[in-house]
Amino acid sequence: MNLPTRTLGTTGPRTAAVGLGCMGMSALYGESDRAESVATIHAALDAGVTLLDTGDFYAMGHNEMLIGEALRSAPAAARANALTSVKFGALRDPDGGWSGYDGRPEAVRNFVAYSLQRLGVDHIDVYRIARLDPDVPIEETVGAIAELVEKGHVRHIGLSEVGAETIRRAAATAPISDLQIEYSLISRGIEDTILPTTRELGIGITAYGVLSRGLISGHYTRDRQLAPGDFRSFSPRFQGENLDHNLNLVDRLRKIADEKGVSVAQTAIAWVLSRGEDIVPLIGARSRTRLTEALGALDVTLDEADLAAIEEAVPAGAAAGDRYAAAQMAALDSER
Ligand SMILES: NC(=O)c1ccc[n+]([C@@H]2O[C@H](COP(=O)([O-])OP(=O)(O)OC[C@H]3O[C@@H](n4cnc5c(N)ncnc54)[C@H](OP(=O)(O)O)[C@@H]3O)[C@@H](O)[C@H]2O)c1
Repeated sequence: MNLPTRTLGTTGPRTAAVGLGCMGMSALYGESDRAESVATIHAALDAGVTLLDTGDFYAMGHNEMLIGEALRSAPAAARANALTSVKFGALRDPDGGWSGYDGRPEAVRNFVAYSLQRLGVDHIDVYRIARLDPDVPIEETVGAIAELVEKGHVRHIGLSEVGAETIRRAAATAPISDLQIEYSLISRGIEDTILPTTRELGIGITAYGVLSRGLISGHYTRDRQLAPGDFRSFSPRFQGENLDHNLNLVDRLRKIADEKGVSVAQTAIAWVLSRGEDIVPLIGARSRTRLTEALGALDVTLDEADLAAIEEAVPAGAAAGDRYAAAQMAALDSER
C-alpha cells in the first residue's frame, strides 16, 4: 500500500504520514499479546508505515527487543524502509520505578550502545532524550548525539517534551529533525508557543497521545477495568468527574464522526493530520484491528465545515484534568 508521506523538519527523514508508536505493546496500557504485537508491526510495515517509535525504558528494553524481533522477521524490503525513533534517558529500577533522567554525554553513549544491540540495527534513525535532564544543559546532550551522528550510529537528532527556549538552544547546537510531543484535540498546549517555534526553525512534530491514550478513541468506556500500573489509573483525565466530562466530549465528537461515516478515532487522528504537513501523528495501535482503523484516518478529509463543527464540539482547553499526574507534569520542560 502507498501511504502519503511527510518530511520531519527540513533536515529529517521522509516518513509515511503516520508512524507506529510501539509503547503500548510493552508497557502502560495493560496486558499485551507478543504475537499480535509483532503481527501489528509487520502489518504496519506492509501497509507502508515506516516510522517505528519506542523508548529504551518501555518495560526496560522489552519494547526495543520486540521491535528487533519484528524487524528480523519482516520481509527485507519492509525492514529496509523502517525508520527507528528511540527515546532514552529515563532511569528505571527492577520494580518498574522511575528515578529521573540522565542526559550526560557518557550516559548517551551508554544508552545508545544497548539500544543498537536490542534493536539489532547498525544505526538509529532518530534519537532523542525523553525528558530534559535538569542537571545537564541541552547543548551537552544534543552535542553527544551529534557525535553519534558523525560516527554513523544515529542519523537524526530529535527532542521530546521540551519548550521553546530549549528547542532554540538545541537547534543552535545541531540540526533537529523533530520534536515529539503530545498533541490532540484535547491536548493543544503546543499551539501557543511551541508550534510557532518549531515552524520558525524548520523542525517537524511527531505527535503522540493523538487519541489521548485511548480516551478519545471512541472505544474507551466508563466501566473499563484497568490493570495495575496502567497509565490511565493515575492520569487525571481518566478519574471520576473528569472522565465523565471528557467522555461527554467524545460523544459530541461521535455525532460528527457518525455523520461523516467514519469512526471517532479516525476523526481525532485526521484532525491532527489536518494541523499541518509538518506533523506526523504516532498511532498507538496494539493490534491489527486498531491499526486498520487508525490508517483509515488517512482517507478522511475534514473540510472547513467539519473543522468548525469539531472546534465547536471540542474547543481548545475543553478537557477536564491535566494530561499527566502532578509529578510527571513537573518533569515537562514543555509545560514551563
Ligand atoms: N515522547 C513522549 O513523552 C511519549 C509519551 C507517550 C507516548 N509516546 C509515543 O507515542 C506513541 C503513541 O502514544 P499513545 O500510545 O499514548 O497514543 P494514543 O494513540 O493516544 O493511545 C493509544 C491507545 O489508544 C487505544 N486505541 C483505541 N483505538 C485505537 C486505534 N484505532 N488506533 C490506535 N489506538 C487505539 C489503544 O488501546 P487499546 O489497544 O486497548 O484499544 C492504545 O492503547 C507511543 O506508543 C509512544 O511511542 C511518547
